[in-house]
Amino acid sequence: MTASEIRQQFLDFFASKGHQIVPSAPIVIKNDPTLMFTNAGMNQFKDYFLGNKVAAHKRVADTQKCLRVSGKHNDLEEVGIDTYHHTMFEMLGNWSFGDYFKKEAIAWSWELLTEVYKIPVDRLYVTVFEGDASENLPKDEEAYGFWKAHIAEDRILLGNKKDNFWEMGDTGPCGPCSEIHVDCRPDAERQKIDGRTLVNADNPQVIEIWNNVFMQFNRQKDKSLVPLPAKHVDTGMGFERLVRVLQGKSSNYDTDVFSGTIQATEKLTSRQYKGTDEKSDVAFRVIADHIRAISFTIADGQLPSNTGAGYVIRRILRRAVRYYFSFLDNKKPLLHELVPVIAAQFSHVFPELQQQVDFVKKVIYEEENNFLRTLESGIRRIEDFMKSASSKAIDGSTAFELYDTYGFPYDLTSLIAAENKFSVDEEGFQAAMQQQKDRSRAATELDMGDWITVDETPDSVFIGYEQLESNTRLLKYRSVKAKGKEQYQLVLGQTPFYAESGGQVGDTGVLHFGDDIIHITDTKKENNLTIHFADKLPANPAAPVKAVVAKDKRSNTARHHSATHLLHAALRQVLGTHVAQKGSLVNAESLRFDFSHFAKVTDEELAQIEQIVNDKIRENIPVVIKELPKEEALQLGAMALFGEKYGDVVRVVIMDPAYSVELCGGTHVGATGELGLFKFVSEGAVAAGVRRVEAVTGAQALQFVNEQLQQLKDIKGALKSPKEPVKAVEALISDKASLEKQVEALELEKVRQLAASLRSQAQQINGINFLGQIVEVGNAEGLRQLSFQLKTEIPDHVLVFAANIGGKASVALTIDEKLVAAKGWEAPKIIKERIAPLIKGGGGGQKSFATAGGQETDKLDQVVAAVKGLLL
Ligand code: ALA
Repeated sequence: MTASEIRQQFLDFFASKGHQIVPSAPIVIKNDPTLMFTNAGMNQFKDYFLGNKVAAHKRVADTQKCLRVSGKHNDLEEVGIDTYHHTMFEMLGNWSFGDYFKKEAIAWSWELLTEVYKIPVDRLYVTVFEGDASENLPKDEEAYGFWKAHIAEDRILLGNKKDNFWEMGDTGPCGPCSEIHVDCRPDAERQKIDGRTLVNADNPQVIEIWNNVFMQFNRQKDKSLVPLPAKHVDTGMGFERLVRVLQGKSSNYDTDVFSGTIQATEKLTSRQYKGTDEKSDVAFRVIADHIRAISFTIADGQLPSNTGAGYVIRRILRRAVRYYFSFLDNKKPLLHELVPVIAAQFSHVFPELQQQVDFVKKVIYEEENNFLRTLESGIRRIEDFMKSASSKAIDGSTAFELYDTYGFPYDLTSLIAAENKFSVDEEGFQAAMQQQKDRSRAATELDMGDWITVDETPDSVFIGYEQLESNTRLLKYRSVKAKGKEQYQLVLGQTPFYAESGGQVGDTGVLHFGDDIIHITDTKKENNLTIHFADKLPANPAAPVKAVVAKDKRSNTARHHSATHLLHAALRQVLGTHVAQKGSLVNAESLRFDFSHFAKVTDEELAQIEQIVNDKIRENIPVVIKELPKEEALQLGAMALFGEKYGDVVRVVIMDPAYSVELCGGTHVGATGELGLFKFVSEGAVAAGVRRVEAVTGAQALQFVNEQLQQLKDIKGALKSPKEPVKAVEALISDKASLEKQVEALELEKVRQLAASLRSQAQQINGINFLGQIVEVGNAEGLRQLSFQLKTEIPDHVLVFAANIGGKASVALTIDEKLVAAKGWEAPKIIKERIAPLIKGGGGGQKSFATAGGQETDKLDQVVAAVKGLLL
């Protein structure tokens, strides 16, 4: 069976048990401060478990793209070293939201594995939670009892909290779980050692494939467990491991999930994958794993960057580059070539990569290229270090600099060191690393208090599309400490405040608790909750609240948001339909829009786009907003924006069905005429293949135009040319150029005269013609000209000229090439050792000619004397 068939059988099986098959959520998470990436199939359903939202279907199944490279679940360093951990993996899952529970979940997992996939019963073991006294949790007798109906009791093992109590993160939904393990060892080995003893013992051939979690609790910040409003099932089966078991392989990388990528890598590197523990084979596995993770994450909207989720992606990519650089002897970008292979392989399950294949390839290529250059300069750095080192040791802080600045992991540094018979101070390196970790933790740590409930009403409703004010109540609040600052987060029953999302900033405004006024500084979303940020709490949290949004800010923001839609459509008209949104920021002052496009947007194109948007504004198109099933919206031609998680019903914003139809949760104007005017402010690059434009509309556009006009007026005034300022500037520039030429010619003539007067003053010292003088020249170029002229006229020379140029000491030292060869004198060395310290400066150059600059203009005679002294 191929991997695709195996995946399909899973989905078909659960469809036959009444499950709705849903698409994978994006691998990149927004709106949840506790997670950067989807790390389990259940993430997108967190609100259903917590009771914040009611599920449209009580039974759901899918295959979910997951990434376990940060936070509680992090396998990055294992990947490639072993054969069954991954950064990105597919998690096959089935869920019950308050519907079936342990009995059915256990029966169906058994039926699927043994009757559909036909895994021999004597290779399977299951584990059940043994209970935990410290948490006051009993043994899961129920699960134990249900398993007994399917499997012999000696194959049911009890497990502790670490293995059999699953938690999403430090806080959030959790519960006891029951895992299914498969023993893949050959029969002979199985007879020798009982598989029971190898379960959960890190044996690569006895592996967990499926986890059935029985969600019952919500873990609080104070570590206590609060029962959930209902009981749920959350399961996750590792797709790559399942395929390996069913295809009878001993490594996930030998299945057809990875073999295509590995073969393509073999071709590109002219090396062979042998499946051993050798570093080159680890490199093949690292590449096969990482390129899949990076490609899908970028396709889901996360570009590599220097912070947060973007940095995690950059680190994964760099790990792959280091492996091919060090162990496959490949020094050129390689990963990007694999993107089309993966895109084609997954096009039927995750079409998002195929749709953006060129873009993703380009982004990866640029990243690889940049990092390879950094690696090269790192290698130069380490070589320089070793050349000038006084002992054969690399200290901890240099090893850390190589890691931090040049991306060298410790093992690469120690490899290069060993090749050169150097040692590395590993302890010092670890200490420097720890210090940095402590610093960054202190900078980012969020200390979040538990929610304090004021009002039990479960639902928080957003009414801000229609209203900017509401009379409501505070439902709950909590305190959050970040970087030593304390803030409060408030949740209201009915809120008119728009929470930051889809690029639109959150509303600000005030909450009136009677006379007690609380300023709301920002509004954000956390899963489905609208969270209001305040610097203080009301004196009486239970008092009735009047919530009032800052109206001007909201309406200016809405104008910029509507302008973004007009702009997006115009960009696609003028530049082409490859233009896809890669990010946006909409606030009261301006809009910023990032999109995929490979070239600079020319001035002509910008003018054309601006013209279209302004035409659409003057058409005064009514903005129509509808809530529709997703499928209908897509039929209308709605552009689905990247990375957004949509339910079944979506909000569609239409500005002329033939012009702009977008899925969007933002706030908008009533008709496009309200925008008044649209002007671009800037255009530039943000990342490989991603351009950014900034623009303004409404009052901000008028202000922008007026400022530009005022500047023009000021320029005309300064030029005293009210009619033709451009001609006046052109004349000024050409006058300046011709004056510069004249000055240059005069300087040259002056140098010539100076040379003539100095020529005869050379002194013979020990067979060398020494000429040293303090001179008057206009610039450093004068010193150079003077030296060049005299060196051709004076044989066997050492020339030193010093000048005070605009209050700075400037020196030029010339040594005859013959003397350089015969005596080993080097001008840069003399400059560095004798002259720079005198004038408090620095310099350098060629062996026969070097210059220096510095602060001390009253040391010029000492400079001349110092050089002379060298010859005596
Ligand atoms: N959420 C469970 C897991 O990730 C199924 O293992």
